Amino acid sequence: MRALVLAGHSVQVVATDAALRFVGRPTLEAISRNPVHTELYEGVAEVRHVAIGQAADLIVVAPATANFLAKLTAGMADDLLGNTILASRAPLLLAPAMHTEMWQNAATVSNVATLRSRGVHFVGPASGQLTGADSGPGRMSEPDEIAAAALALVGATQDLAGRHVVVTAGGTREPLDPVRFIGNRSSGKQGVALALAAAARGAQVTLIGANLEVDAPPHVTVVPVMTALELSSAVTDAAASADLVVMAAAVADYRPDAVASAKIKKETQGDELVLRLVKNPDILQALSAARLPGQVIVGFAAETETDRDRLLQLGRAKIERKGCDYLVLNTVGWTEGFATDGNAVVVLDRSGHIVGETTGSKASVADSILDSVVRALGAGVRA
Ligand code: CTP
Repeated sequence: MRALVLAGHSVQVVATDAALRFVGRPTLEAISRNPVHTELYEGVAEVRHVAIGQAADLIVVAPATANFLAKLTAGMADDLLGNTILASRAPLLLAPAMHTEMWQNAATVSNVATLRSRGVHFVGPASGQLTGADSGPGRMSEPDEIAAAALALVGATQDLAGRHVVVTAGGTREPLDPVRFIGNRSSGKQGVALALAAAARGAQVTLIGANLEVDAPPHVTVVPVMTALELSSAVTDAAASADLVVMAAAVADYRPDAVASAKIKKETQGDELVLRLVKNPDILQALSAARLPGQVIVGFAAETETDRDRLLQLGRAKIERKGCDYLVLNTVGWTEGFATDGNAVVVLDRSGHIVGETTGSKASVADSILDSVVRALGAGVRA
């Protein structure tokens, strides 16, 4: 609610009885800055049960329970929320939240498939801590993600309309044998936030996801990959029609030179195991060298350097070496950068100047990175 209000939208809350057991009406009214609607038989003269739905540009149900999904699938309208939705032609975005067993129950699975086939949009659920001790898929997506998906559906700033944006996200895994790999701690959150932000600004987005630990956003074409070589081939294909390529993925610099076809055993290895690694291609450098006219290439540099001047020096040397148009620099460490919800970045251009600097949620960082790079887009690669 707060994110949508801050983005300048008028938010009307339709609360079910169950919703009011969790969050009080004054809170909902304070945050939405509007009266809360609850009763079907309230405001009958102004036909409120259809008026709210007819006036809406978008309806978001968060959290959407298993019971709500079932009622919606059946087209039930026994409360104000059901009436509002049935009386509306606006896009509908649902953020499911329930226990894993309920999410995976055949009835829910079938309801979700039916709703999707009717054009209903979903964000999440994420996987994580649920109420009580259990954990798994069913946790409601973070508010930032729901807001970003909502803004994408109502079409926020459309400065990427007609553009094809390719984002790589996550961390590659280099297999050692059928059960083991060498990987890194990238969760994919920042890259997924970038894909969402680009889609919200009207772009057609291809997300090359390397072992993503977060759900891919709606309205984005996802190409799943595991290794650096797979990522290289997927991004090279997608870049052929891309206006903007953002290499947010953490790519392994080296891979084992041979992958064992069977599990490596202690008995055959003894007390030491020596791995021989060979260099992976530098994908960002290759994309930059093969850049199409008008195409913009953005690299990332995750560094453990904490001194700002030395960090900027590393960034300037890296953008020079990679040949990309912009470099997004951030500090990572045991507790910073990876799998967290916030981020702090500096954006450098080719001449090493700082063209953007933000600290905030990964969603707001994504938007500000796009603000910094969007002005460099040429007439259009596909034009
Ligand atoms: N990258 C790439 N191909 C690789 C390694 C990295 O395309 N084989 C990309 C990443 O996606 C990122 C940028 O290059 O956008 C910088 O990654 P980083 O790991 O910081 O740089 P490296 O070149 O690997 O340098 P370092 O020696 O600091 O690890």
